[in-house]
Amino acid sequence: MRTHYCGQVTEVLESQKVTVAGWVHRRRDHGGVIFIDLRDRSGLVQVVVNPDDADKFAKAERVRSEYVLKVEGQVCARTPETINPKMVTGKVEIVADSIEILSASDPIPFQLDDKNISEEVRLTYRYLDLRRDEMQQAMKTRYKVTRSMRRYLDDNGFMDMETPILTKSTPEGARDYLVPSRTHPNKFFALPQSPQLFKQLLMMSGFDRYYQITRCFRDEDLRADRQPEFTQLDIETSFMTEEEVMDMMEGLAKTIFREAVDVNFDYEFPRMPYSEAIEKYGIDRPDLRIPLQLVDVADLLQDIEFKVFSGPAKDPMGRVAALRVPQGGTLSRKEIDDYTKFVSIYGAKGLAYIKVNDLAAGLDGLQSPIVKFFPDQAMEIMQRVGAEDGDIVFFGADNAKIVNEALGALRCKLGEDLGLIEKEWAPVWVVDFPMFEMDEKTARLTAIHHPFTQPKATTEEILNHDKPELMLSRAYDLVINGIEVGGGSVRIHDTKMQAAVLKMLGISDEEAKDKFGFLLNALKYGCPPHAGMAFGLDRLVMLMANRDSIRDVIAFPKTQSAACMLTEAPGVVDDGQLADLDLRFRKPARD
Ligand code: AMO
Ligand code: AMP
Repeated sequence: MRTHYCGQVTEVLESQKVTVAGWVHRRRDHGGVIFIDLRDRSGLVQVVVNPDDADKFAKAERVRSEYVLKVEGQVCARTPETINPKMVTGKVEIVADSIEILSASDPIPFQLDDKNISEEVRLTYRYLDLRRDEMQQAMKTRYKVTRSMRRYLDDNGFMDMETPILTKSTPEGARDYLVPSRTHPNKFFALPQSPQLFKQLLMMSGFDRYYQITRCFRDEDLRADRQPEFTQLDIETSFMTEEEVMDMMEGLAKTIFREAVDVNFDYEFPRMPYSEAIEKYGIDRPDLRIPLQLVDVADLLQDIEFKVFSGPAKDPMGRVAALRVPQGGTLSRKEIDDYTKFVSIYGAKGLAYIKVNDLAAGLDGLQSPIVKFFPDQAMEIMQRVGAEDGDIVFFGADNAKIVNEALGALRCKLGEDLGLIEKEWAPVWVVDFPMFEMDEKTARLTAIHHPFTQPKATTEEILNHDKPELMLSRAYDLVINGIEVGGGSVRIHDTKMQAAVLKMLGISDEEAKDKFGFLLNALKYGCPPHAGMAFGLDRLVMLMANRDSIRDVIAFPKTQSAACMLTEAPGVVDDGQLADLDLRFRKPARD
């Protein structure tokens, strides 16, 4: 049907006959000559239709935007003044011998090059939205990434294997999507939050190195980087230490960046303990492109009158931290008020500051509503944060969680607002995570990674640890530009240790047996030491394609409220289907 893609028609084909097919991107009638920009996935080419043949010309007059055409013609050089240097095909045009209208198109609901289309419209007409060059590029980047991943893993002896989608709840900490069973009344499948348990079983079956590019389902609150169904590159290995797994995965990350977006990392990714990430950046996924750091000052402020600071400074759960912003002294009152509002989203009750006008002048050189409360400590604080004339130093004082979240977010916002971002890419491995954290609502321990992660402790130490929150795990996350793109761990391969961890989590023997008895059983029959990791493919591609939302790199994403605008899913089902499942609603639908 065609000899070339539109985007391949360049000067190398000059004077040749070609046949192309695609969509009418634009049609211009220049009184007697019609120009058509024809588009396919490779790009655009200009077609010229002369009035030498009435039938051909009449067809060209009929075509409108988004008609699908087949065009045969000769590739001709454009005259110098009509060359378009912005187009790959801009030096030539196809002089049409014949045109065939393969398909007409109604006027489309929005112009493809309109930059201000609402996301609602884009998602409703996603098949049109995907025609836009930006989306075509994003999808190509995504494909290049998965192709490169597969090649790397194949070269390193990994086997692509599938795991079930209709399964049982997997404990990744989100709410499950449930599917009622017709053949087993009153019972439900859960869609997998990840293939975690199955990939561990595959290690017990001896498959050694597994991977899968697979969909995961999590019914959780959505954000720009979270979707209810998303894709993981899921990996598991046997007989590899965490060092070996991290090296192999770092190799993978470097390979996909090089092959898909031509970014070369010629250095080892830094490693940072979780505790350092929290201390300096307030978060376990630090954006290291921004050169600002939190500095603890609580030890200096415990005995001052100003309760706002001395309270948290004395409280073991509290934190008082400073954030120095070089040359931030030019921030206006209004800007500082806006930042104060910004941190209040995270629960901060205020945002104290000191403007450093003239360090040499001592206290007189510091402009601040609070410095009067700690005249004796102010200069030492300035020294500790490395303040210089012209800086501003912000302070957060509260329980540690609020201070970390508020100043951590402020750090990133200031970095962007003040143009402090120093480099394009900042990967970092975060290691030495705590094994458990205390869930404040239920007052129960939960596993920070998942309950199959190995603690850095023996079984006896696990059972006898009086401060389980301090115990570390053998988990690792890969963070790039402040986004957690992947995470994994060394798994427990010993029945006793697994039982000890489940006990710490307050999971009874019956509950454990009911939920993942199959895994506990399998551990008894020769389980190799194993470790693995999963990358969030959508997040990786979002970063690599320089987009702000993972919806922009997923062909058919869901909205923020977990619906599909295109198909209008989720939808109602008919009474017969409900009867088959033996289901009845407790309440009529609300709208
Ligand atoms: P985890 O839960 O950390 O680990 O998930 C791995 C990676 O998946 C991505 N991700 C998401 N992406 C889009 N939308 C979501 N809702 C979403 N949730 C997670 C993140 C994350 O780093 N089984 C373990 C991995 C392992 O231990 O091997 C797991 O699923 O980029
Ligand atoms: P106040 O005494 O409440 O007027 O606060 C004096 C200064 O401290 C103001 O600049 C407030 O923004 C700031 N502030 C109040 N509470 C906190 C807090 N928890 N952390 C940091 N700064 C605060």
